[in-house]
Amino acid sequence: MEECRPVLNTGLRGVVIADTRICEVDGANGRLIYRGYMVQDLAENASFEEVAFLLLYEKLPDSAELAEFKRRLLAERHLPPEVIDVLKKRPKDALPMDILQAAVPLLAHHDPDTADQSMEAVLRMSIRLIAKLAIVVAAWDRIRNDKEPVEPSADLDHAANFLYMLSGEIPDEEMGRFLDKALVLHAEHSFNASTFAAREVASTRAHIYASIAAAIGSLSGDLHGGANTRVMEMLFKIGSVDKVTDFVNQEFDAGRVIFGLGHAVYDTDDPRAEIIASMSKVLEDKRGKSHWYEISAKLEKTGKAEFKKRKGSDIYVNVDFYSGSLYFSMGIPADLYTPVFAISRIAGWCAHVVEEQFAGAAPKPTLYRPESEYIGDYCGPDVCEFTPLDDR
Ligand SMILES: CC(C)(COP(=O)(O)OP(=O)(O)OC[C@H]1O[C@@H](n2cnc3c(N)ncnc32)[C@H](O)[C@@H]1OP(=O)(O)O)[C@@H](O)C(=O)NCCC(=O)NCCS
Repeated sequence: MEECRPVLNTGLRGVVIADTRICEVDGANGRLIYRGYMVQDLAENASFEEVAFLLLYEKLPDSAELAEFKRRLLAERHLPPEVIDVLKKRPKDALPMDILQAAVPLLAHHDPDTADQSMEAVLRMSIRLIAKLAIVVAAWDRIRNDKEPVEPSADLDHAANFLYMLSGEIPDEEMGRFLDKALVLHAEHSFNASTFAAREVASTRAHIYASIAAAIGSLSGDLHGGANTRVMEMLFKIGSVDKVTDFVNQEFDAGRVIFGLGHAVYDTDDPRAEIIASMSKVLEDKRGKSHWYEISAKLEKTGKAEFKKRKGSDIYVNVDFYSGSLYFSMGIPADLYTPVFAISRIAGWCAHVVEEQFAGAAPKPTLYRPESEYIGDYCGPDVCEFTPLDDR
């Protein structure tokens, strides 16, 4: 009798593949917890730098630790001139996520620690990556617009400095704080696709730059981080509140998804979405220059109702939905929304690489190696018979 093995063509949904101390996503109750802290509390009370420290070092920093961590990030807030030169030679219409992914191995070439497999070296590289990915994104936007990259400011925190390096203008305090909150909210989300990609590469004992390049590639997809840019494209296409219902019907009729709705884990609204929505509303009300929040709010309501009508079940809003209107109000170009996700999630990816390589909570495979069930043909009835070229 043939051996019967379970085959999981389900994208590993519901399959627990490792223990982690970094993050819990409680999809049933809509709770997101970084190292024991509710994400809402972190967004309200902690900066991105504090959260990056928490993820990497397993505790919130005290004032001295935070000052030292910020000093180390600031010391890395620049790119090697050779990397800037390479960016200047890229086609101006290259996809920003491709640029970001390609920049990671370039940065590795200038990192003295890549051959050092100690945990201390991986943490040093993590700090460099957290500081530098944001600089790559800002520098690339300047370069593709025929402008020189802006020199970093030592007076601004990570989020405000990113906005400054993007536009050349110091953002107002509220906008800097709102981006900082958004970075906190995006910093970590357990074993999502990109984090799994990072950990899978880390399990081979490749250096952290290889893990991060893989993670950025994974994040770029529309069903993952790429959804926030797709949300903004959708809003541009809709154009005005009165067009929302027609748009929703048209997308459902065509069997397309409404970006920013649905999640692989949450059975509730994403706990991050409400905070992002409220920041988006505040900025839109204050600036009065756009109506993307208003359209998003109608789209959420109409999309949810239409889904219920057609599928008989509920669908919920995810983190990407209101990121579109929020980042628009901050003056960030729509195709940089996913890179902005990456400059935050880099903190979580690095924490996972460290955990994968050094701090697993329980025995785990030294190398991820799932199996597949072969369902293809064999070339002969009993054996694989090779057919010479002339006989085919
Ligand atoms: C995120 C996502 C991939 C999760 O998928 P999932 O929970 O595994 O659900 P499935 O892809 O299996 O979809 C289940 C059903 O809901 C539908 N559905 C899921 N998300 C939908 C959406 N955003 N809009 C319309 N229909 C949607 C699917 O078409 C499918 O319908 P079917 O059963 O008739 O084929 C999915 O919701 C999606 O594509 N969302 C849009 C992209 C997005 O916002 N991604 C960012 C995630 S943070």
